[in-house]
Amino acid sequence: MRLLLPESREVTPDDLPDVYDVGPSLRAGFVLSADGAIAVDGTSFALSSAADKAVFRALRTVTDAVVVGAGTARDEDYGPVRHSPAAAAWRAAHDRTTPTTLVVVSRSGRVSAQARFLDGPVLLAVPEGVPIDADVSARVEIVRTVDPVELVAALADRGLHRLLCEGGPSLLTSLLAGGVVDELCLTTAPLAVGDAPRLLGALPGARDLRLLSLAYDDPGVLLSRWAVVRSTGD
Ligand SMILES: NC(=O)c1ccc[n+]([C@@H]2O[C@H](COP(=O)([O-])OP(=O)(O)OC[C@H]3O[C@@H](n4cnc5c(N)ncnc54)[C@H](OP(=O)(O)O)[C@@H]3O)[C@@H](O)[C@H]2O)c1
Repeated sequence: MRLLLPESREVTPDDLPDVYDVGPSLRAGFVLSADGAIAVDGTSFALSSAADKAVFRALRTVTDAVVVGAGTARDEDYGPVRHSPAAAAWRAAHDRTTPTTLVVVSRSGRVSAQARFLDGPVLLAVPEGVPIDADVSARVEIVRTVDPVELVAALADRGLHRLLCEGGPSLLTSLLAGGVVDELCLTTAPLAVGDAPRLLGALPGARDLRLLSLAYDDPGVLLSRWAVVRSTGD
């Protein structure tokens, strides 16, 4: 993989945690086709590549918590966030020794007691008053808000400051509209998909982005990292 911006040099997967390391912030990591599709036949798997997987792992390596919509957790059969020995060593060297929490966000509270992610540290974010299955509530910590600003504050109260939203588009749209997203890390796959779900739904207004870094990998995979410029209303 070749880093093109902000400097030009070859990078290996082992270099990527340093390239993608970040301070307290909420970033989103997505893969999309060149024409903006985020899923093919209901999942993102067909859009991914070796380079995308390497960045996906690096984003997880540096993060305190992965935040995901309950729909994506169901559609993509999410398990707990686990790190390779190399990623665990990077985390230990950077004082990030606690396991990475998975934060599942749901309006309905509809989480299966068989969900694989229940085998790891999970925080379930649901609105006040929504009932949770007793078998599920026994295995998760529950946060009673899905308001973006309140959710980020509740995670910070638990020491979770570097947040990675892995999807899906409904959740990302809410977080962007709520003014809490600092960065978009987007892999563009060399594929045109046509009619398929897109990255974002309706926003209250366009958001300015600033390119932070760009990398390239054969055959035609672009890995971009964008800062979301804060508007005065955020
Ligand atoms: N290309 C990529 O990188 C990528 C990444 C992630 C997902 N995807 C794809 O995206 C598709 C799923 O899209 P989606 O928009 O349905 O996913 P999503 O954002 O995960 O949203 C679906 C569900 O998540 C919960 N949710 C989302 N936003 C919420 C909010 N603001 N507050 C409370 N709960 C919220 C709700 O769960 P409840 O129904 O439980 O209330 C909602 O029904 C799948 O095909 C998946 O493969 C692609």
